Amino acid sequence: MNPPGLEDLLTLLRFPSVSTSSAHRDDTRACALWLQNRLTTLGLTADLHETPGHPILVAKNKHLPGRRTVLLYGHYDVQPAEPLNEWLTPAFEPTIRDGRIYCRGATDNKGQLMAHVQGLTETLAQHSDLPVNLTILFEGEEEIGSPNLKPFLEAHRDLLACDVVAISDTGMVAPGVGTFTYGLRGIACLEAKVRGPSIDLHSGIFGGAIANPCTMAARLAASLHDPEGRVLIPGFYDDVRPLQDWERTAWQTLGDGDAETLALTGSPALFGEPGYTERERRWARPTAEVNGIGGGYQGEGSKTVIGKEAFIKLSFRLVPDQDPAKILAAAEAHLRAQLPPVVSLDIHLGHTGQPYLMDPHSTLGQAAQRALTKTFGGQIALIREGGSIPIVQAFADVLHAPTPLLGLALPDCQAHAPNENFPIENFIAGTRLNQYLLEELA
Ligand code: BES
Ligand code: ZN
Repeated sequence: MNPPGLEDLLTLLRFPSVSTSSAHRDDTRACALWLQNRLTTLGLTADLHETPGHPILVAKNKHLPGRRTVLLYGHYDVQPAEPLNEWLTPAFEPTIRDGRIYCRGATDNKGQLMAHVQGLTETLAQHSDLPVNLTILFEGEEEIGSPNLKPFLEAHRDLLACDVVAISDTGMVAPGVGTFTYGLRGIACLEAKVRGPSIDLHSGIFGGAIANPCTMAARLAASLHDPEGRVLIPGFYDDVRPLQDWERTAWQTLGDGDAETLALTGSPALFGEPGYTERERRWARPTAEVNGIGGGYQGEGSKTVIGKEAFIKLSFRLVPDQDPAKILAAAEAHLRAQLPPVVSLDIHLGHTGQPYLMDPHSTLGQAAQRALTKTFGGQIALIREGGSIPIVQAFADVLHAPTPLLGLALPDCQAHAPNENFPIENFIAGTRLNQYLLEELA
């Protein structure tokens, strides 16, 4: 027997709502429409708001005076499923194996989002009412940096006014361990294109007399770090807020992070900024990453060519109090300073999201922790995450609401990778979590 709500989750998962892909624009919209209809069946008023990109869904129960207002945020878009040949079963056909649902979006974020919807469904079936004024905000552009959501918040402050924002789109440190995430890294993206000759050239005829764009792009990539992994962009660390003593101590009790990360990643060794543990590096220190590098000949065998251009795609993960715009400006200046004027450099600044940090010991943080304890029992892990949810700091800036992050993603959920999966057990736990959370926040 499938648990209540599972069929709905499987239906939601079948929409290939890949926000970055124009080929999936209609699928992404169909996904939003399905959710709108699903929320309407709960007796909520649910409206789709058009944006230049994918629609934003806002749903509400009847708001009554004197009640707390909780805004529940989630995203219905997903990352691309490629490389498709590495999926054991089709990426958009949810398949259950050993108690886990395998599908793109199973964890990030449709499984976690539907656990909330199922929690609401069960509370409404039992009590015909919710203990809070509820506003649901589901967007379809989180995986591309939420470009249209901040302007939407600014334009709809009254519609979205709330006391607290709740999100399940982060991790659990281990199966069955209630995990409270009180901080996220921010993000800033940049793409650099190195242009050399106006046409591809024979590398024997011209090699040695002109600069090779691939070599110059590699030089850019190599200029980002010292040999030990510190970022070399001048000013990069200026505004970094140091870790607090209590969190360094708390994170040491979470088990052997080194061994776990080696096992999860299959890397031969750990590598990173000296002076910090593996968790501190991932959760509370900023980074520069090369997400892509290319140019020249990529096909089979060899080809003696000097490609006319090459590119690198970079992203920076940021921590409080770094400012994404300031970091991008510093990065651009640094990259430009690396290359002699033998090639030209086009730099395109991409999307950004602020880092986020709240106090997990606040009254509200404690209420959220009680909901986790009721759901999972045992000790609650207090962590930060290395991933980004670009809109979260805007909830604080625009709506003046804190955001406890109560995630259900397991360390081996394979989010963004082939064979993404979500345990049915976590779907059931998430359903309970939603119910306890609304009670505690009320
Ligand atoms: N759910 C993730 C964020 C996340 C991942 C939080 C892991 C905690 C742990 C979210 O959907 C995501 O992937 N965000 C992107 C945002 C980016 C594309 C702007 C990210 O972090 O890369
Ligand atoms: Zn994601």
